[in-house]
Amino acid sequence: MKNTMMKTHFDLLIIHANIATMNSDFGFHLDNQSNQTTKTATPYGQLTNHAIGINDGKITWIGHHDDASSFTADRLIDAQGKWLTPALIDCHTHLVYAGNRSDEFESRLTGVSYEQIAKNGGGIISTVNATRQASFDELYAQSEKRLKALLAEGVKTIEIKSGYGLDLQNERKMLQVARKLGQDYGITVKTTYLAAHATPPEYKDDDGNAQNDAYIDKVCEWLPILHQEGLVDAVDAFCENIAFNKQQVKKVFEVAQSLGLPVKLHAEQLSDMSGGALVASFDGLSADHIEYLSDDSIQRMAQSGTVGVLLPTAFYVLKETQLPPIDKMRQQGVSMAISTDCNPGTSPSTSILLAMNMACTLFQLTPEEALAGTTLNAAKALGLQDSKGKIAIGYDADIALWDIERPADLSYLIGQNKCVDVI
Ligand code: NIG
Ligand code: FE
Repeated sequence: MKNTMMKTHFDLLIIHANIATMNSDFGFHLDNQSNQTTKTATPYGQLTNHAIGINDGKITWIGHHDDASSFTADRLIDAQGKWLTPALIDCHTHLVYAGNRSDEFESRLTGVSYEQIAKNGGGIISTVNATRQASFDELYAQSEKRLKALLAEGVKTIEIKSGYGLDLQNERKMLQVARKLGQDYGITVKTTYLAAHATPPEYKDDDGNAQNDAYIDKVCEWLPILHQEGLVDAVDAFCENIAFNKQQVKKVFEVAQSLGLPVKLHAEQLSDMSGGALVASFDGLSADHIEYLSDDSIQRMAQSGTVGVLLPTAFYVLKETQLPPIDKMRQQGVSMAISTDCNPGTSPSTSILLAMNMACTLFQLTPEEALAGTTLNAAKALGLQDSKGKIAIGYDADIALWDIERPADLSYLIGQNKCVDVI
């Protein structure tokens, strides 16, 4: 096994564990360019009856349980045969928002579409109104409850987008809440600037026509300011008929690029806008939703290493019938991540385990792909592939402990959270 930084004393030693490492060094076959199974593949890169040594928050030793018997540690955890996985990573959330939209849920059940609600001034804009009205503390308190629910399911890294402020001061407020949540809870929060999410009311004329070009100029103006304040880790946009076109998104991405910020995109959720190809042309981190992703976009994403982020809860809530092209992404070697898309409109969920279950049941992912989607590939979608997402020497010791019989139980069980600890 790997003993590159051999030490006999650890800050923390976890013994008698079964480990889903998600690491190709231990035979995990999805941890490489191609998704093809090789002869030497070991599902989940799993190790039975093993131990992990941790120093300074990093994994420094992985070996057989028996080899750890002479080691000492400040803190010892006997996993008693339970399973360890990399702590889960939720790579696409709108967790910070105020208010709720159950009224729109009721409308949609009577047949009004998501697009129609948005066109009538509801949808994202109704959350914008509530978020603007909320004070920093109110916004923090509402968002904190959702964060706690996510963390209870073994999550230790989360991406949080702005996009319900749509003016400088309220986008800033959202991003500041996201940063403070990360600090207060000792977790990794990656913030994403999503001012190009919808047209705010002040950029609509008397006839309700959106002044999108003028608004995008503002979005481009605010980005360097918020970046300067240390509030932005990446930049996102909503490329769709009911939101912004490719040209407008490109403008925002060019500003991001000039600041050295990575980009990602809400792409192909309701129609094919070739957003996947656009984000790939900027070597973007991810294209998200992607139900209507074209062959051309898949090819370009494969070339640029752009991750396809699947959001099955939003698919389910919108009663979408167009399936994301899973097989084609597999064939082309596009890494697939899975996320909650936690938001008040299309995914009022704080369950990453439910998203994994839905990715299997609705999109035919294997439970192994589903776990890769919330660990290894979710790390890649956030640019964290060198420090998070697998159990490996030198990686962050973000580890979840589960009372399960097999790793597939994480995707199989519904409404049953078997997470017993997050390290
Ligand atoms: O990921 N598609 C755009 N954004 C969100 C929905 C936001 C909302 O409806 O409030 C999404 O589905
Ligand atoms: Fe989203």
